[in-house]
Amino acid sequence: MTVEGTVYLDHAGTTPLDPKVLEAMVPYFTQHFGNPSSLHSVGQEARYALDEARERVAGVLNCRPREIVFTAGGTESDNAAIHGVATALHETGNHIVTSSVEHHAVLHSCQYLESQGFEVTYLSVDADGMVQPEAVYNAINERTTLVTIMYGNNEIGTINPISEIAKSVKKRAEELSRTIVFHTDAVQAAGYLSLDVAELGVDSKIVVAGILMMGGMTGYFLILTIWKRRPEALIKTRPQETHVSGDSKLVTEDEHSTITVSGKSLAEFL
Ligand SMILES: Cc1ncc(COP(=O)(O)O)c(C=O)c1O
Repeated sequence: MTVEGTVYLDHAGTTPLDPKVLEAMVPYFTQHFGNPSSLHSVGQEARYALDEARERVAGVLNCRPREIVFTAGGTESDNAAIHGVATALHETGNHIVTSSVEHHAVLHSCQYLESQGFEVTYLSVDADGMVQPEAVYNAINERTTLVTIMYGNNEIGTINPISEIAKSVKKRAEELSRTIVFHTDAVQAAGYLSLDVAELGVDSKIVVAGILMMGGMTGYFLILTIWKRRPEALIKTRPQETHVSGDSKLVTEDEHSTITVSGKSLAEFL
């Protein structure tokens, strides 16, 4: 697109709002503005919109609607996933495998966890900038609880073989008889690559974080499927977004998010 004579080529950074999305969102600013956690009819209308959005996004990801937690962005999703999983599984291990070319939302989360006593293996990429599944397999040990490898790289555009990496994680986890969660930062993949978790060959122990903003509001969601225990909430308050299965907020979504979430779900980019 052009902006006053400038050719804008940074859609991987952010995009303008698609008019169709804007149109879909407007009623939630003016008519259906209720707090989705409220029991009154105005709130329930907003709740309906959220539920509908959740269903639509679940269709894209091929997961259950209740496995989706909407967040404010990729950084929040990555942080919630990494800190949440590392904390939830801390009793079983303290080792994380990632790559040296992850986005700062992942790298800085891992570095913080290192300062708290976790061990992190930062895998190098090959000559083409790819993370090799065998390297992931070899890095996993009997203390590993989390593997986090990005889907599409935001700097050089490489696309990692996520389903192959998922297979390596699963194989190693079975050999070691342990729960190892595989997380992928999929922020740059949405709109271009399949986000179908079954097609990606991942089992229920995956966390997919992030969705980029092709024509939707800048904003993302996080899905957390998984095992019996919900990761520790990053931000404590009364239950809202995590009401489906959590006892406190995972992230910072508030009452006003219906607008963003509805816009996102209606965005045609999915
Ligand atoms: C691969 C990747 N991960 C995470 C993020 C962080 O997303 P956000 O800016 O929404 O916090 C970005 C941002 O572009 C990204 O490209």
